[in-house]
Amino acid sequence: MSDPIPATEDEFRRLCEFLYRRTGMIFTEVKRYYVERRMFERMLATGAGSFASYFARLRSDVNGEIEQFINTLTVNETYFYREDHQLQCMTSDLLRERLRVKRAGEPIRIWSVPCSTGEEPYSIAIWLLENWPEVDQHNIEIVGSDIDTRVMEAAQEGYFGKRSLMRLSPALIAKYFVDLGDERWRILDELRQSVRFTPANLVEPGGTGLHGQFDIVFCRNVLIYFDEASRRTAAENLFENLSSGGFLCLGHSESMSRISPLFDVCRYSDAIVYQRPLGATHV
Ligand SMILES: C[S@@+](CC[C@H](N)C(=O)[O-])C[C@H]1O[C@@H](n2cnc3c(N)ncnc32)[C@H](O)[C@@H]1O
Repeated sequence: MSDPIPATEDEFRRLCEFLYRRTGMIFTEVKRYYVERRMFERMLATGAGSFASYFARLRSDVNGEIEQFINTLTVNETYFYREDHQLQCMTSDLLRERLRVKRAGEPIRIWSVPCSTGEEPYSIAIWLLENWPEVDQHNIEIVGSDIDTRVMEAAQEGYFGKRSLMRLSPALIAKYFVDLGDERWRILDELRQSVRFTPANLVEPGGTGLHGQFDIVFCRNVLIYFDEASRRTAAENLFENLSSGGFLCLGHSESMSRISPLFDVCRYSDAIVYQRPLGATHV
């Protein structure tokens, strides 16, 4: 079957505006090929014969089409122990600081948003087991969230390929994964059960409130896809989702100082992180 007719400039602009409002991600003419290929895929899958009929279907969200289309557009690149200097900072400094202000027995809550296919939240779990001797004395809750429901399903299943595991030592792989052959591994059930996955959209105003407040949030390698307005909305959501004095870790090319004055900058020996100031009121 041949490709559907390409969208006109005006149609493409309307599609990009719609996607921006839903995801905060900026698509322009430069990304036309990328977006259009995915739209053609969805047109073929849904039987829509023209841009107009597909766009109508998308806007009315027939059979969850918005979610289906967003799932095809996201960039889900991730791997275990990515930017592990921040994991080091978590066990060297951040947890100690959080424990100073918590009541005995109160859970320590850590959020990986976006979590993509799960490598980040599972890395947090493995890192804690390996590098935090007092791990067994605390009640730790790890949550992974993403706008893309397809990657979260994969995260829950816990199957990984060689590329995902490239930064883990053979000893760690042998300890925490079952080798399935053909360069496929499955993370141990015990670890799969230690992370809870639930969807979240960082740019929906107030849209992450359901997840409650966290001691540490890892929000890495997503703000780069947003424009300034979406970054600010994401920053406000993250602020609300942090406990007073809670910490935020961003990706290495992302800086909260350029986005929002809500957070304090904390320089530790392993990483620069952002903190919701103790006692700061809501946005
Ligand atoms: C490059 S991955 C980053 C994964 C992981 N944090 C890491 O650093 O390895 C970016 C993820 O952001 C997710 N994403 C994009 N827009 C989002 C939004 N508005 N809210 C939540 N997640 C979003 C995508 O689905 C994708 O899985």
